[in-house]
Order: sequence, then structure tokens, then C-alpha cells
Amino acid sequence: RPLDISVDLPGEQAAQKIKIGIYFATWWALNVVFNIYNKKVLNAFPYPWLTSTLSLAAGSLMMLVSWATRVAETPKVDLEFWKMLLPVAVAHTIGHVAATVSMSKVAVSFTHIIKSGEPAFSVLVARLLLGQTFPLPVYLSLLPIIGGCALSAVTELDFNIIGFMGAMISNLAFVFRNIFSKKGMNGKSVSGMNYYACLSMLSLLILTPFAMAMEGPQVWAAGWQQAVSQIGPNFVWWVVAQSVFYHLYNQVSYMSLDQISPLTFSIGNTMKRISVIVSSIIIFHTPVQPVNALGAAIAILGTFLYSQAKQ
Ligand code: 3PG
Repeated sequence: RPLDISVDLPGEQAAQKIKIGIYFATWWALNVVFNIYNKKVLNAFPYPWLTSTLSLAAGSLMMLVSWATRVAETPKVDLEFWKMLLPVAVAHTIGHVAATVSMSKVAVSFTHIIKSGEPAFSVLVARLLLGQTFPLPVYLSLLPIIGGCALSAVTELDFNIIGFMGAMISNLAFVFRNIFSKKGMNGKSVSGMNYYACLSMLSLLILTPFAMAMEGPQVWAAGWQQAVSQIGPNFVWWVVAQSVFYHLYNQVSYMSLDQISPLTFSIGNTMKRISVIVSSIIIFHTPVQPVNALGAAIAILGTFLYSQAKQ
């Protein structure tokens, strides 16, 4: 009965909008909490390879428990699925550890300003490596993104080359993660939540040996003692919070990917960065020069222009 459908549609659309709004608000809130605790932990315990491993371990454990207790449905995956997931997991691991190394060296806001330049990387990779072409407005929108990030970087008071390069590598790795996961998720049979769960587990396997090699148990034990003597026994809860919230924000973002287009997702991601940049500047009293803030604003405006141009 077409009449009923037309009567129902506006209601359904409104319900869908509310649902997406709730996903976005939850995603940003979880991400802000993650970023705050992650930086608090890194300030006292500057071992990003371990903290990024713990984030993946917490998520893997939470999902294994959810599957065992049937809170979440266990995905039916085969060897082919894991093979398709491998390149995604390699890129996810590199992007994650690089961002965490970056945040251990520079202000959270600076890492996220550079990370707001991700669309520029995605266009450059698609153009240079995949031979895709885009309409002129898309290329033009890269100018404010690159210019704004560059302005912010050169005027950053607390500039550090490892911090800068970490955020740049993270951008590049996440572009590849998106390209590979688009290929792998075509006709996928697992939900966004379970897809991210499997991704965490595979990334954990990949990252653990590297974390051992880069830092290692001896360094961690000494650093941990120092952090606990400085912060007190609550330090362990900070580590738990950064690990659990890392998983939760990613899980919600993958769940929302099920509902929205990649374009809407990337707009949501940029707005997420604004909330992280602003809240971390307030909480950590990060000194910001006006010209530095102007660079961030130009870069973020550029990502909005980019999404318009892409549309
Ligand atoms: C990480 O640790 O993986 C980064 O903070 C991820 O950044 P993003 O999810 O905001 O791109």
C-alpha cells in the first residue's frame, strides 16, 4: 500500500537521522575520553608501543568475552576472510602505533591537526598510485588542507619531528586501511562491530612482537614503577580507561560505517577532531598562538570544502 509507505517514510527518515546522531555523539565522546586518558598515560609513562598494544588487547579481550557469553553474535569467518583482513590489519597497526608515538611526543591537538589532513593523503594516493582522477574542486580543496596543516606545523611551539612524522605516517596508513577494507568489506558477511573485533585481534598479533622489540618488558617494568610512584595506584585505571575507550570509540565508528556513506563518515571524523582539539587544549592547557589556531581552522575548513567537492 504505497500510501502507507509515503506516510511512514518521513518518520523512518527522522528515526534514522536520530540513530546516526546518537552514533556520532557517542563516537566523539568516547574519542575525547580516549584521547585525554591516552595523553595522561603517555605523559607519565612514555611507552607508546606498549599502550597501543594494550588498547588492542583490551578490545580483543572484551570481544572474546562478548562472544563467549553470547552478548554479541560470534562471526562466521573463514580463512579467506582473515587473508582479506591481513593488509587492513597491517595498515591499522601502523596507523595506530604511529598516531600513539606522535601523541607521546607532541600535544594531542597538534597530532589531530595534522590528522585532519587525511583527505589530502587519500586524494594523493588515489591519484598517484591508483591513477584515479578527480574534478578540479577536489584538488583545489587540498590547498587549504595542506596549507593549514603546514601553517600549524611551522608555528607549533612544541614542534617535534617524530611527533609530526608519526601523524603523517598515520594518515598515510589509514588511507591504505580504508582502501583495503573497502575491497575486503565488499559483500562482507560480518557486522561492523565484529569486523572491528577481528581487526583488533589480528593487529594485536602483528603489533606484539614489534612492541617487544621496540620497548620490551624491562623498560616497561621500570617505567611502570616510576609512573605508579608519581601518580599513585590510580595509574592502572588510566591505562584501563585509555585501552577500553580506544576499543569502544573504534567499535562505534565501525558500527556507524554500516549505516552511513564513507563521505558522511569522513565529515563525522573531521568534526570528531574538532572536539578532540578543543577539549585537549582546554584540559592540558596547551599554549596556542593565534596563527597556529588559524592554521588548524584553515585545514579543517579545507576538509569540509573537500567533502563538498567530493559530493
Ligand atoms: C590511534 O591511536 O589509532 C589514533 O588515535 C587513531 O586516530 P583516529 O581514530 O582519530 O584516526
